Amino acid sequence: MSDRSIQLLGRIDLFSELGEDELRAIGEVAHVLNLPRDSRIFDAGDPSDALFVVASGKVNIVITSSDGKELILAVLGAGQVFGEMGLLDAAPRSAAAITASPAELVSISRSDFEALLDRQPPLARKLLTIMSQRLRRANSKMESLAYMDVAGRLARYFLDLARDHGQSLGNGWVVIRRPTHADIAHSIGTSRETVSRMINDFESQLGMVNKGRFTYIRENLLT
Ligand code: CMP
Repeated sequence: MSDRSIQLLGRIDLFSELGEDELRAIGEVAHVLNLPRDSRIFDAGDPSDALFVVASGKVNIVITSSDGKELILAVLGAGQVFGEMGLLDAAPRSAAAITASPAELVSISRSDFEALLDRQPPLARKLLTIMSQRLRRANSKMESLAYMDVAGRLARYFLDLARDHGQSLGNGWVVIRRPTHADIAHSIGTSRETVSRMINDFESQLGMVNKGRFTYIRENLLT
């Protein structure tokens, strides 16, 4: 692996406390994948044989109902890890992972990851932290799906997206690259048409501004 790849591994939250020697050891066993948008990395039910880290781009974590409706559980971006659940509980994949943009991923096989966890016990604590944060976010999503109307779910969706993936412009505004209206609809359990209509309503009601694929949100709404 090149020095750039080692640097890239060091920027990943899960590996952020590891020294350079350990990062090089991971680099020896890791594989880099460059995938176009809409690539299926794995499907729900597939055997769990590797852990993945997003180096760049976005990955949707998706479940599909028996009648073909998709629910996007999470959008993962640079530095985030996925595929850890199947490695930890030795069960098949709990959801599909599909690139939502061109993406660069790093994969580590099950046996190499298990050896790494044995060598580096602090990694297990870091993984527990990441999984706790995910459970919090999943509970919050469950709450919004169960108790909020579509407008409330969409508002929370944008605020979460701005917190997780937004870029502060330093002038009181945060910018996000907006997912497709279909992907937003699949994240909050509504139709694409409803999302398109409500995004226009939000522009006048919340002072949110859409320009092309980008949405600008006031930073003070995120606190
Ligand atoms: P695994 O079950 O191996 O494969 C699907 C992966 O999606 C899973 O591991 C987690 O890494 C990730 N995942 C599943 N559910 C969620 C969720 N609610 N939020 C974020 N990531 C998830």
